[in-house]
Amino acid sequence: MVMKPMTRVFSGIQPSGVPTLGNYLGAIRNWVPMQDAHESIFCIVDLHAITVWQDPKELSRQTREMAAALIACGLDSKRCTLFVQSHVPAHAELGWIFNCVARIGWLNRMTQFKDKAGKDREAASAGLYVYPNLMAADILAYHATKVPVGDDQKQHLELANDIAQKFNHDYGVEFFPNIEPLIQGVAARVMSLRDGTKKMSKSDPSDQSRINLTDDADAIALKIRRAKTDAEPIPEHMAGLEGRPEARNLVGIMAAITDTLPENVLREHSGQGFGAFKGTLTEALVAHLSPIAAEMRRLLTDPGALDAALHLGAERANAVAEPIMKQAREIIGLLPAR
Ligand code: TYM
Repeated sequence: MVMKPMTRVFSGIQPSGVPTLGNYLGAIRNWVPMQDAHESIFCIVDLHAITVWQDPKELSRQTREMAAALIACGLDSKRCTLFVQSHVPAHAELGWIFNCVARIGWLNRMTQFKDKAGKDREAASAGLYVYPNLMAADILAYHATKVPVGDDQKQHLELANDIAQKFNHDYGVEFFPNIEPLIQGVAARVMSLRDGTKKMSKSDPSDQSRINLTDDADAIALKIRRAKTDAEPIPEHMAGLEGRPEARNLVGIMAAITDTLPENVLREHSGQGFGAFKGTLTEALVAHLSPIAAEMRRLLTDPGALDAALHLGAERANAVAEPIMKQAREIIGLLPAR
């Protein structure tokens, strides 16, 4: 067996819907090569998902579907630890401990809470408010230091570092490590197909706003055809995309899916109208995504095998987290249970 360096990678995804092209390009795709370079832990964060209402039957179905999607994208339970958050008690326990470390003032600055809670903050769940504390716990329960995410998670990871530092400072220890966010350039922020100023999201009420990893060729073609653009042709240089968020988004998606730079996409397509460009983009998306959707469908025909892989993952995750939790309890002064 090849020995991997000791850096530990952790990342998570909510089972609040089918993963989108944004999740794929901004995060999942970057997780795949990490499995061979580092000890990698990937988590389906169901406890985060219930910070907003989830229909119970849908939640369990979506959790399994997320596992199938991640495996179909290239995660391999032999090369990484893939599991469900609620199967490992350390997350909730350390999350609670961090509720007692993080300051309310820090949480008040979280833009994602403001976005998700909307105008009626008083009606938001307390869980949604302390969401970033649980996220810090997810990572730090494993002493993970590298966290590959999309751009929208940056503020949460900064808060996780603040929590780790305050814990270390308050208890006079060097226990929790510093976390390094790994945010990939071109696709770190894939935007909605209907509004280039909003991120593409699995929880957006409009299915037309996103490409789902389960979409078939017809659905992809229709969504790309309907995607908002402008009347201008594709410019020669990046400067020509300024003030054109929808155009910039489609060029960015094309670059990411064909593994090139947006500059190269412009070079190849400049002068073209978006009608023609959308045809080429659809072809590239279908070629890349349809094998993933097919593999997902295949995996979902055997839910027992998926559950077994997840249970094995949880056992492995627990074996890493539990000794760290034991030390954390000692540091805090919690009386050992046994
Ligand atoms: P979630 O489920 O919203 O998204 C999972 C990953 O996908 C990235 N992402 C995007 N990247 C580019 N463009 C987009 N439109 C887009 N939408 C989503 C996200 O940045 C993320 O990397 N809070 C996290 C889950 C989480 C987590 C963690 C992540 C819980 N604990 C610990 C890292 C470490 C979330 O809601 O991701």
